[in-house]
Amino acid sequence: MSAHSSSSGRVTLTSLHKMKATGQPIACLTAYDAAFAMVLDAAEVDVVLVGDSVGMVVQGRETTISVSMDEMIYHSQMVRRGLRRAMLMVDMPFMSYGTADDALANAARLMKEGDAEIVKLEWGAMQLDMAHRLNECGIPVCAHLGLTPQSVHKLGGYRVQGRDHPTAQKMREDAQRLEQAGADMLLLECVPTALAQEITQSVSIPVIGIGAGAGVDGQILVLYDILDIAPGKRTRFSKNYIQSSDSIHQAVEHYVEQVRSGAFPTAEYAFD
Ligand code: KIV
Repeated sequence: MSAHSSSSGRVTLTSLHKMKATGQPIACLTAYDAAFAMVLDAAEVDVVLVGDSVGMVVQGRETTISVSMDEMIYHSQMVRRGLRRAMLMVDMPFMSYGTADDALANAARLMKEGDAEIVKLEWGAMQLDMAHRLNECGIPVCAHLGLTPQSVHKLGGYRVQGRDHPTAQKMREDAQRLEQAGADMLLLECVPTALAQEITQSVSIPVIGIGAGAGVDGQILVLYDILDIAPGKRTRFSKNYIQSSDSIHQAVEHYVEQVRSGAFPTAEYAFD
């Protein structure tokens, strides 16, 4: 049994809470099929996210907006078949949680048909009463704050969030409210390092970052970015691990090692 999993050998919310409490960084990556999921699981990635980034990195679209519930379930089923140890998190796609009733029905589909263990919703479209109702129904929730790609047109592009005082203050307050409403995890995307660290220290639930610096409880990157096969320009916060590795397995292991040791991310992959 690994130090990061429960007695069943699986990573659970309880093991992630213990990792936060003991300061052991949580290593997460995205996957979209069983073959890559097996590689990630063998490298002891703790949380595998079936991200709606599938729309961009697999389907070649410009945004995540067109991804459907049926597509998320299809990819989730494939990834589940590749996992033995990691926790399976699945994104709720754009407009699948426009109302609390839709959120409940679609989160239930991701769990029953897609075998998800936790669902991720982008805060902004998500409302507090949704987090409450999902919590009451026993559905684990991760709330995604900061840069929320489903709102890219509203945000005016993919930009760092929380650099100005009002937005930073709102993010601090939202994080508190979400924890109180029953969110089990937070994910911060493209948030200045100091703000992300402050938010992480202010909540008792695990906080995962992407472009949020080293002061959070864990890191996530898009698998195709670390393998340098994502279409389009490389994002500033992602690191190419394949260039220094002999295989995909080794690249993923190197990422996990660097997250666990704190060697990733350095300031080069974060924002002030
Ligand atoms: O969809 C996705 O891959 C994500 C990550 C950027 C965290 O939400």
